[in-house]
Amino acid sequence: LPANEVAAVKSTWNSIKHDEVAILEAVFKAYPDIQARFPKFAGKSLDSIKGSADFAIHASRIVSFFSEYIAFLGVENTQPAIKTILNELGQSHRNRGVTKAQFEEFHQALNAYLKSHANWNPDIAHAWDDAFDKAYFVIFSAL
Ligand code: HEM
Repeated sequence: LPANEVAAVKSTWNSIKHDEVAILEAVFKAYPDIQARFPKFAGKSLDSIKGSADFAIHASRIVSFFSEYIAFLGVENTQPAIKTILNELGQSHRNRGVTKAQFEEFHQALNAYLKSHANWNPDIAHAWDDAFDKAYFVIFSAL
């Protein structure tokens, strides 16, 4: 990713990364089929689970994964490490039957969250698209 895109992704991410529970809530609200994949959350109302410890733990795992990925961006010689974590994510999700379409839904939901909660303009949107494309290229190869 070009340096200006890396900077745009990092700064917008830093501005929302503390919204762990709200991010997961936005994803489940927009795409109930994603929620339905979670044995702990399937079939329950979002309002009844969003305050639970399980929900907070999972929200924190997702956000931490993004933080790890984004921290690698723009740093030299991190390609192999990035590839490894993305491959592992693809494999663990393949084993759960998660589909590419559901990853695309996740992308849409996170994009919508960023758009309404972070500084946003066409350049920033483009930077995020590139960051997702790069990640999904590897994840999808393992899915
Ligand atoms: C578990 C991240 C998309 C369903 C996890 C874990 C992480 C994670 C870090 C825990 C470690 C692991 O098992 O690999 C992400 C990220 C995503 C994403 C960063 C998008 C870029 C999705 C989607 C679905 C999903 C789209 C479902 C449609 C699950 C399930 C678990 C899980 C069911 C297991 C939860 C448990 O039983 O503890 N995810 N995930 N994930 N993810 Fe995802």
